[in-house]
Amino acid sequence: MKGIILAGGSGTRLYPMTQIISKQLLPIYDKPMIFYPLSLLMLAGINEILIISTERDTPYIINLLGDGSDFGVKLQYKVQANPNGLAEAFILGADFIGKDDVTLILGDNLFYGDISFFKDAVVAHKSRSGSFKARVFGYYVEDARRYGVVEFDRATGKVISIEEKPQEPKSNYAIPGLYVFDSRCVERAKKQKPSKRGELEITDLIQTYLDDDELGVGIIGRGVNWLDTGTPDSLLEAAQMIATTQKRQGLMVGCIHEVGFRKGFIDKTKFLEAIERIPKGPYKAYMERIVNEDEVEI
Ligand code: G1P
Repeated sequence: MKGIILAGGSGTRLYPMTQIISKQLLPIYDKPMIFYPLSLLMLAGINEILIISTERDTPYIINLLGDGSDFGVKLQYKVQANPNGLAEAFILGADFIGKDDVTLILGDNLFYGDISFFKDAVVAHKSRSGSFKARVFGYYVEDARRYGVVEFDRATGKVISIEEKPQEPKSNYAIPGLYVFDSRCVERAKKQKPSKRGELEITDLIQTYLDDDELGVGIIGRGVNWLDTGTPDSLLEAAQMIATTQKRQGLMVGCIHEVGFRKGFIDKTKFLEAIERIPKGPYKAYMERIVNEDEVEI
């Protein structure tokens, strides 16, 4: 399973913060936003990841994350020249994906809590059990109108419909920006036509799998927090959630270096070397503290 993080867009809802820097590099409490989706992929065992961003922002992201070797991930980068839609990620990532399955996560989507819904989906997809060739997730929200919405049969779990930002949602289940596909998503994305707003819609791509009866939906439980951090309020709420959790536990959320170490992507020697390169401050101090704490769950 490979991973793609789409960190494009102009972030207009966060102007003027996004006038000179990408939304996905803005802080969520004590780390850049992109650390959180990146660590989610890593927690599910994904360590080959393509990051797609704008021409302006890609050099900054490279500056931040490099080739990923400090935290045991093989990172590649690709520029999305224009905001042509989420499904374009698979066209830009065609060579990277090859014949593998792929998870796409949007760079402003933050999940916190029991993430076994995602780990299980990755395992099920890899084992090719069942007939699902694409998986989306459903998350109950108060107002689903600004999201993709999934309608499903409660008894069988079968997807009935998916709609992009419907005026009258058929359910309260929003589709978060986290999707699992087989490699055929590349060919299907290439055949797509732009929508009325001129974008290759992810919902249209997902629809092709639904048409072929190959779409699965995993319902995310109430104990999980999903936030898309595209507005000033959601940015603040996410920061407060991370701060509250971290202060209570004394453990970091979304610390890609720790995740790489605990997942065994890097050994202790490499972890210690990586810590050496990090400037003095709380992030470094945290890792110096936890390097010998073996009993911590990941
Ligand atoms: C995109 C997708 C939408 C999804 C959302 C999740 O919308 O098109 O289906 O629910 O991400 O964050 P956007 O926020 O890019 O308008």
